[in-house]
Amino acid sequence: FAAQAAPKPLVGRHALVTSGPTHEPIDPVRYIANRSSGKQGHAVAAALAALGARVTLVSGPVRLPDPAGVNVVAVETASEMLTACRAALPADIFVAAAAVADWRVEAAGQKLKKRDGGGPPALTLTENPDILATLSTTGPYRPELVVGFAAETNDVVAYARAKRLRKGCDWIVANDVSPATGTFGGDRNSVHVIRADGTEEAWENLAKTEVASRLAAAISNHFVNGKK
Ligand code: CTP
Ligand code: CA
Repeated sequence: FAAQAAPKPLVGRHALVTSGPTHEPIDPVRYIANRSSGKQGHAVAAALAALGARVTLVSGPVRLPDPAGVNVVAVETASEMLTACRAALPADIFVAAAAVADWRVEAAGQKLKKRDGGGPPALTLTENPDILATLSTTGPYRPELVVGFAAETNDVVAYARAKRLRKGCDWIVANDVSPATGTFGGDRNSVHVIRADGTEEAWENLAKTEVASRLAAAISNHFVNGKK
């Protein structure tokens, strides 16, 4: 007899997930990046797909295989990530797990040369669009459930509560990315989940895949029970 099929409570739902770092070019050969590995975001995409969601994963440059059964859109910069996310709407669920660069450089069209004179070049930085805030607050296509992440190195929960309000998202998953925690690039994570209804949960020292499964389960609970 057949094994019982796993329940798929998110069948019929479209989930949009961002993951990884972004790369912001300085010139044709150089860029600014950050330490994000994409492990947490990719694991969230896989976990939502496992519950039956149709998943679009918009990812910056990572050294990870594409999760099975997920539609992956590869981008480099924050601006490209925003464009790809907008193009993927409408979605029922948006999970912003990417470590989006806060600033981009006014990039040079040609390689900057050491001997051009004038010493080291000054980089002019411009603020990038905030993808999470944009999708949380604009237009008729706001996903029903918007989940942000918050990378903090101190006062994690207090900063994350304020960040959730500022971004207009429903839930925020706060993680401590101090070097001693090994979160950036590592396989484990400790997070605080902060919801608009005031409930907060601490998920301590778990594999990133387990954080992803719990988050996907909480998301499916929302859609099954209407719990926000
Ligand atoms: N985020 C985003 N677009 C940006 C910056 C951040 O979508 N340009 C999203 C991240 O994917 C994450 C959340 O916003 O879900 C919080 O990112 P974080 O870097 O912690 O917050 P910032 O608002 O950028 O504030 P700061 O870096 O100054 O703490
Ligand atoms: Ca930031």
